[in-house]
Order: sequence, then C-alpha cells, then structure tokens
Amino acid sequence: MKAAVLGTGSWGTGFGRHLASLWSEVVMWGVEPSQVDAIATTHANPEYFPGLLLPPNLTATLDLAAAVGGADAVFVVLPSQAVRDVAIRLRTCDLRPGCPIVCLSKGLELDTLKRLSTVLEEELCQDAAGGSHPIGVLLGPSHAEEVVLGMPTALVLAGYGDGWHALQGRLAGPTLRVYTNDDLLGVEIAAAFKNVIAIAVGMCDGLGYGDNTRGAVMTRGLKELARLGIALGGRFDTFYGLSGIGDLITTCTSRHSRNRNFGEAVARGDHDPQEILRDAKQVVEGAVMTQAALKLSAKHQIELPITQEVHHVLYSGKSAARAMQDLMERTLRSELE
Ligand SMILES: NC(=O)c1ccc[n+]([C@@H]2O[C@H](COP(=O)([O-])OP(=O)(O)OC[C@H]3O[C@@H](n4cnc5c(N)ncnc54)[C@H](O)[C@@H]3O)[C@@H](O)[C@H]2O)c1
Repeated sequence: MKAAVLGTGSWGTGFGRHLASLWSEVVMWGVEPSQVDAIATTHANPEYFPGLLLPPNLTATLDLAAAVGGADAVFVVLPSQAVRDVAIRLRTCDLRPGCPIVCLSKGLELDTLKRLSTVLEEELCQDAAGGSHPIGVLLGPSHAEEVVLGMPTALVLAGYGDGWHALQGRLAGPTLRVYTNDDLLGVEIAAAFKNVIAIAVGMCDGLGYGDNTRGAVMTRGLKELARLGIALGGRFDTFYGLSGIGDLITTCTSRHSRNRNFGEAVARGDHDPQEILRDAKQVVEGAVMTQAALKLSAKHQIELPITQEVHHVLYSGKSAARAMQDLMERTLRSELE
C-alpha cells in the first residue's frame, strides 16, 4: 500500500510516520526544500522534531506528481488556505482511479466560507481523466508531538457514502484508534471553529485567570460551536464527539496548542496580535477562522459572543481584559437558550 501525504510540517510528519508503521510506502510532498531534503536524505525533520528518526519507508519529494502517482490514498495536511491551490495542481497529476482523498487540515476557505472537503470535491471529485475520488476528512484531538511519541490517540474519519470502513481499518494502529462518522459537515465545522475558542481560553490564561474561567469559556464555547454547526446542517451528537468536545478539551488545555498559546501571548500584550501572527513559525488556523465564523454568524443570524470578542481583540485593538469583562456583563439568560 502506498500513501501520499501532502505537507511536510508538524502534522504531516507525525501522521506520515504513523502511516509508515502500517503501509509499505509513504511519500510526503512539500514545498520547503530544506524539509523535503532532510526527510529524503537523513530520515529526519529537525525543524519540527529535532532528534526524531523517521522510518526508511517514509520518504519525501518536491515533485507532486511523483508523490501521488500510484498512491492508494492521498492525505492533505496543509494550511487550510493552501488547500485549493494544491488541489488545482493535483488535477494535472495521474491519480489512481477511485483513490480516496482525505483532508487532515482544520479550517474553512476564507474567501468562499466553504469547507475544505467541498473545496477538494469541487476541484477533484472528477480528475482530468474523468475518474472520481471519494473525499473525506480525518480529524480530532491529535497533537503531532504526542502522536510521534506513540501516545494513545483517537480520530474520526468522516465522509459521505460507503467505503470508509475499509480505510478506517487501514488507518488504525495500536496507538491510533479511528472512528467513522457520516456527518462530514458537523465534523469539519467543529474541527475548524474549536481553534477560535482555544484562542479565547489562551487569552484567559494570559490574563492570569484560573480553572473556573477556562471551564466556563470552554463550555460556552462548545455551545457556540454546536449552535453554528447545527444551523449549517451538522448533527448535535457530532459536537459532543472527537472533533467537537474532544478536540476542544485537547486544544484548550494543552501547552502544544499554538492557538491557545497565541491567545495567551495576545493577552499578555507584549506585541500586537497581527505582529505575533506574522512572526509565527507555524500556521495559527484559529485567527483566520475567527473571521470566517463571524461572516457565517452574520449570514445565518446566530449569536457567537465569545467569537465576536476574540475578533474584536485580534482585529479591532480591544484589550483581552475588556473583552472578558464585556462577556461577563452580557444580559443574563438561561443556560439552555
Ligand atoms: N500540528 C498538529 O498537531 C495538527 C494536528 C491535527 C491537525 N492539524 C492541522 O493540519 C494542518 C497543517 O498543520 P501543521 O501543524 O502540519 O502545520 P505546519 O505549520 O507545521 O506545517 C505546514 C506545512 O505546509 C507547508 N505549506 C505552507 N504553505 C504551503 C503551500 N501554499 N503549499 C504547499 N505547502 C505549504 C509548509 O511548508 C509546512 O511544511 C492545519 O490545518 C492544522 O490545523 C495539525
């Protein structure tokens, strides 16, 4: 079995390494010659995982067509805003007929507010040769830093139609359990927007608030995720699943979470949020998703108070302390509204 993994960053490397323990050949594709060269020649990706040795059946190339040629599945592990451009390039490649394309990126396309599976579907459900490809996502609480250490992790594989059970069996291993869910929309919306709540929780940590605040923001944040996702057509239960509350807990409480860490740095106020984003070594998906969530909330007339306050802090110069105060002073209401 050959897999192509698109993206040589943190999660591409962590997931690729997991796959290489199960599949005979895993070829990563990247655009950074230093990362690709390190993986291909020294079996390491020191930019992300210094000291970690990668298995010999995990290689890397700058040649997209070579990476995906003959692959039994293609895994997309790129920053969300890069997915369409790469999908367009994939159209010219010789994909194996029926080869599934699975997205592990978390986010929406900001310009169109489309889910990434929709972006892939639009560009790739029929390739240049007229072949069709099932499109799915593999999401959930999965810090690459823990996956590479073999710590038990559970993910959800979501897609429409049959055929995902076979892939589920091929992706699961002794340290990575895979569930299926046919609520593709709900899984993607939950995974994309939990990062906004993680920024809010990070801001509270940066302000020196404690566990009570974290519990309150996570719980009310989950309510926002579910409110938005259900309005868009997702199922209630999905938001209480791995890509919803599961990923929310992990992201909001972890020192590995770049979205939580970003919120913390913003609240400390040493630098402007946009300056922190510009200097970030890795993609902070939650910042872009704050804009997407607000556009969707306006379109569907849904209240997202925490998201709104995060947006004010990131893009309108409001202080994190003032934002938190304003959340506390909102009109009192029932918890179940
Ligand atoms: N890091 C994790 O633990 C983790 C876990 C689950 C999901 N994710 C999601 O996976 C996606 C990727 O995250 P990551 O942590 O690997 O990011 P990263 O910042 O570590 O790596 C991103 C990679 O994409 C490459 N890249 C950037 N722009 C590109 C472009 N236009 N075309 C091709 N390649 C490009 C970079 O060179 C880099 O190799 C994100 O959506 C993230 O939310 C990450």
